[in-house]
Amino acid sequence: MTDQARHSRTAVVIPAAGRGVRLGPGAPKALRALNGTPMLIHAVRAMAASRAVSLVVVVAPADGVAEVKAMLDAHALPGGPPSGSWGSTDYVVVPGGDTRQESVHLGLKAVPDDITTVLVHDAARPLVPVDTVDAVIEAVRDGAVAVVPALPVADTVKEVEPAEPGAPEQVVATPVRARLRAVQTPQGFDRETLVNAHATIALTGEGATDDAGMVEKLGAPVVVVPGHEEAFKVTRPLDLVLAEAVLARRRANDGF
Ligand code: CTP
Ligand code: MG
Repeated sequence: MTDQARHSRTAVVIPAAGRGVRLGPGAPKALRALNGTPMLIHAVRAMAASRAVSLVVVVAPADGVAEVKAMLDAHALPGGPPSGSWGSTDYVVVPGGDTRQESVHLGLKAVPDDITTVLVHDAARPLVPVDTVDAVIEAVRDGAVAVVPALPVADTVKEVEPAEPGAPEQVVATPVRARLRAVQTPQGFDRETLVNAHATIALTGEGATDDAGMVEKLGAPVVVVPGHEEAFKVTRPLDLVLAEAVLARRRANDGF
């Protein structure tokens, strides 16, 4: 590690402004509880667990900033530091946008100048282990400008020509499964590289769902490090069952 890398400071932007349409009716997804604790709180804890993370920027639903701030304050360590920090990790809350791309862009604007490494982590991946977070940070500090944790895919994946709902879809291609990876978060970046990507790539349609993909479009190299099965994204109702089972297993194993 270079001297400069040792002094690099790391922040995490957590997009948490989505509605969670695929999860069904209810509160915004990040604010829904897993075993009694909001998903967002699990996600912030997972980031604050890394000693390298000095700041967390939570991007809240635009109409929910005060509620999210109060939620973070209430869950910060009892008797710990003043409101606005969690152990040695500070946090701020900013309002999000209509797409994930906009929300991340708004979060990046709240990252102070002395931060050199930025991670982007979905609030919807509340159970990522700290070792995965540290592995991503380490890879950026070792010189990668963009790092994504990813796993081999279990299913064979086909590219199709999308058709009307219910109609059969024409298969266009079957990529070799051994070359495919399903990507997770936190994704880690050299700060300038990510800021550049968000400043350059215009929002089209539903926007980019993957920050590393934006960096790729600029021609910058992106590398993959091993992801973790517990870093799965809570997307559909069955994922809630799995997430609560993972938490129950952790509690049984180590009283966490
Ligand atoms: N996100 C965001 N702002 C948006 C949309 C999404 O900050 N306008 C965040 C979500 O809160 C989530 C992450 O981006 O933490 C990944 O998005 P996804 O899993 O798609 O969550 P939702 O958009 O909330 O879910 P859905 O697409 O089912 O509505
Ligand atoms: Mg979404």
